[in-house]
Amino acid sequence: MNTVKTVRELRAAVARARAEGKRIGFVPTMGNLHSGHVALVEKAGQRADFVVASIFVNPLQFGPNEDLATYPRTLAADQEKLVAAGCHLLFTPDVDEMYPQGMVEQSRVSVPGVSLGLCGGSRPGHFDGVATVVTKLFNMVQPDLAVFGEKDFQQLAVIRALVRDLNIPTQIIGEPTVRGEDGLALSSRNGYLTPEQRAQAPALYRTLNQLAERLRAGERDFAAIEADGKRALESAGFRPDYLEIREAGSLHQAAAGDSQLIILGAAFIGTTRLIDNLSVDL
Ligand code: PAF
Repeated sequence: MNTVKTVRELRAAVARARAEGKRIGFVPTMGNLHSGHVALVEKAGQRADFVVASIFVNPLQFGPNEDLATYPRTLAADQEKLVAAGCHLLFTPDVDEMYPQGMVEQSRVSVPGVSLGLCGGSRPGHFDGVATVVTKLFNMVQPDLAVFGEKDFQQLAVIRALVRDLNIPTQIIGEPTVRGEDGLALSSRNGYLTPEQRAQAPALYRTLNQLAERLRAGERDFAAIEADGKRALESAGFRPDYLEIREAGSLHQAAAGDSQLIILGAAFIGTTRLIDNLSVDL
């Protein structure tokens, strides 16, 4: 696996692969890779001949009081995992390479609709930062396909919408969430948890499952189900940010006749914010 830091080197390496007739798969990440990321790279390898990954902790998608400074940077370990997963090219730009005009002067991509509420409500500007960096990366790599985790379900919806709306010829593939044995969704932010918090954390997924059971049993008082879920999270030591039942395709508020629902939750344990979701097909 070759690691490059500049757009020029990236474009040259991708152009060589294309000239050999290879289909390009892409996995953008912020690094500190775990088995969930490895699954994305492996999926890209099944669907494409040449797999590009990027590691860039994107300042544009962090709020002023968020964890940009402390976000784990583990390049050497990440490179080993990428090699083992079959990645061919790694792009690790620095901030000046990605935003040479500075971030204030940077043109932005904004995706209305699906960006509103949920994480978009709690983290103002977050999805503009994600949409902007992903659009830039797509323009740099010009992949045939790109793979994203379903754990960040709203992010996946934002990326699907921007590709559709901006006519970007990249197929977007969602990959199911990878979980620990106790159900906790793998996340780079799990590393912030103390052992005691780590033991509490699976309650988020357990709560989503309890709510899903009630939906499957026919309950449709969504507000009451959400309120009970928040209380369950509080009892388990979380400070809930949101817990909402939405229609899975549009992310609109759920309605009684919907057949594909998704329960999305975000909650703090201490200062660590965890997110998760669970689809419910009725
Ligand atoms: O999901 C992530 O790791 C990031 O939001 C992404 C898609 C790499 C954009 O910075």
